Amino acid sequence: MDKLIITGPSQLKGKIRVSSSKNSSLPIMVATLLSENIVTINNLPKLRDVSTMLKLLKNLGAEIEEKDDGKVVFNTCKLNSYEANYEMVKTMRASFLVIGPLLARYGKASVSLPGGCAIGARSIDIHLDGLAKLGAEIDLRGGYVHASAKKLKGAEILLSFPSVGATENLMMCASLAEGTTVIKNAAREPEIIDLANFINKMGGHVYGAGTSDITIEGVKSIRTEVDYIDYNVIPDRIEASTYIIAGIITNSHIVVENVITKHMDAIFDVLKNMGANFKIISPEKNINNAHANENDIVEIFPRVEGVELKGIHVDTAPYPGFPTDVQAQLMALALSANSPSVITEHIFENRFMHVPELNRMGANILLKGNSAFIEGNTKLTAAPVMCTDLRASAALILAALVAECETEICRVYHLDRGYEFIDRKLTNLNVLVKRVPGGPF
Ligand code: EPZ
Repeated sequence: MDKLIITGPSQLKGKIRVSSSKNSSLPIMVATLLSENIVTINNLPKLRDVSTMLKLLKNLGAEIEEKDDGKVVFNTCKLNSYEANYEMVKTMRASFLVIGPLLARYGKASVSLPGGCAIGARSIDIHLDGLAKLGAEIDLRGGYVHASAKKLKGAEILLSFPSVGATENLMMCASLAEGTTVIKNAAREPEIIDLANFINKMGGHVYGAGTSDITIEGVKSIRTEVDYIDYNVIPDRIEASTYIIAGIITNSHIVVENVITKHMDAIFDVLKNMGANFKIISPEKNINNAHANENDIVEIFPRVEGVELKGIHVDTAPYPGFPTDVQAQLMALALSANSPSVITEHIFENRFMHVPELNRMGANILLKGNSAFIEGNTKLTAAPVMCTDLRASAALILAALVAECETEICRVYHLDRGYEFIDRKLTNLNVLVKRVPGGPF
C-alpha cells in the first residue's frame, strides 16, 4: 500500500483548483440508472470511489464510455444484473444507493447490507423504511437486502434523521413512483440539490431540494426529447475546506479556486472566529476571470504579526451546520491555536480515529464520549502515522505540513478515495511530498 512522505514545516504558496465533489458525483452516477437517454457527465473527479462506482455500474450491465477529454457517457438501458454484491458494497457504502433506482426502473434489486466502517455502524434503516413506504417488499436474507416492487406509489415519508444517503435513495426511487412523494426532514446538503438538478435535467420532477421538505412528482419514465444530455457536478466543498485549512495552518499565502463559498458558511464562520486571515473573491470581482460563470476564489493570507489563532468550541451537525467531513481537519488546525478547543461529533459514533495518530505526533487530545478536548500551542513532530478513513487521513496531511522533519503517512489509499491528484496539488503548493508506492502496510 502506498505511503506519502511529507517534509515539514511547509510554507505554502501558489494556487490550486478544487475538483468536482465526490459526494455529488457518486449519487449522480447512480441516478443514471433511471434514465432512458444516454447521459454524459462532463467533470467526474479521478478518484478511487468514482472508479469503484463505474465498476459497479458496469457490473450491472451499464455501457459506460470514459472519453479522453474526461467526459463519461452512460447508457443504462440494457442492464443484465440487479445485484450489488458484498465485495462491492463493503468497499464503498455509497454502492447501497443503487437499490432505489434499480427498484424504480426494474422493480427489483438485491444489494448487500453495507456493514459498518471505520467511522461507525452506518445502518440503513431509514433507507429501508422509506422504500417500504413507497411500496417495496423488503426481504433481509443472507446479508443482503432483496427488494421488489410491482408498483411503487408516492407517499409522505418522514425521515427520523436527515440522512444524506436515504434522502438521495428515496428521491431517485420516488422519481418513477406513481403519484407524489414528499420527503420530510430531508437532508439539505448542496449535494442533494445537485442530484435533484441532475434528475430534473434527465426528465424527472424534484422540487424543494435543499430544504427539509422535498416533493417528487413521479413520472412514467425518466427521459427527455433533448438528444444530448450532459451535466457538470458542483465543486467539492470538503476538499476546498481542506486546502483552505492547509493555507491557514501553515500561515501561508495561497489561492483556492473553483469554490462555491455559499456552501461553506458554517466553515467560514468558525475559521473567522479562530482569527484566520482570508478573503472571498466572487467571479464578477475577479477581473482575471476568463470564464464568466467561474465559481468563487478564496485567498488565504498569513496572519498579521502578533495575531494568533484562537481555540474554538464546535459541534458537528447536518447541513447547514458544521460538516462532520471537516471535523478532523479542524481538529488538526485547533492544535496550533493559542488556547484549548472542544469539538463534539454528533453525526457518526466513531469519527475520532485520527486522534491517536495526531497524539503520536505530539498532540494532546483527550476524548470523552463524543467530544474531543484539544490542547492548543502544540508543537507537532514527525512520526510514522496510519490513515484509517478518508477525512482522518486529511487531518494527518495537515499535521504533517507543520510537523518538523519527515512524516510518513501509511495506507494513503484512503486519501485517494476522495482527494483528486493530492500529491500534485500539494506539490503545486510548494509542499515537499513524495509518494512511496507498494509495501505491505
Ligand atoms: C454521506 O454519507 C457522505 N457520503 C459522508 O461523507 C458524510 O459524512 C455523511 O453523508 C454525512 O454528511 C457520501 O455522500 C457518499 P448519512 P451517508 O446517511 O449518506 C446514520 C466522506 O468522508 N444513519 O447522512 O452514509 C448513520 O449511521 C463521507 O466523504 C442511520 O442511522 O450519511 C450516520 O451516523 C463519510 N440510518 C448518520 O445517520 C440510516 O438509514 C449520517 O448518515 C442512514 C444513516
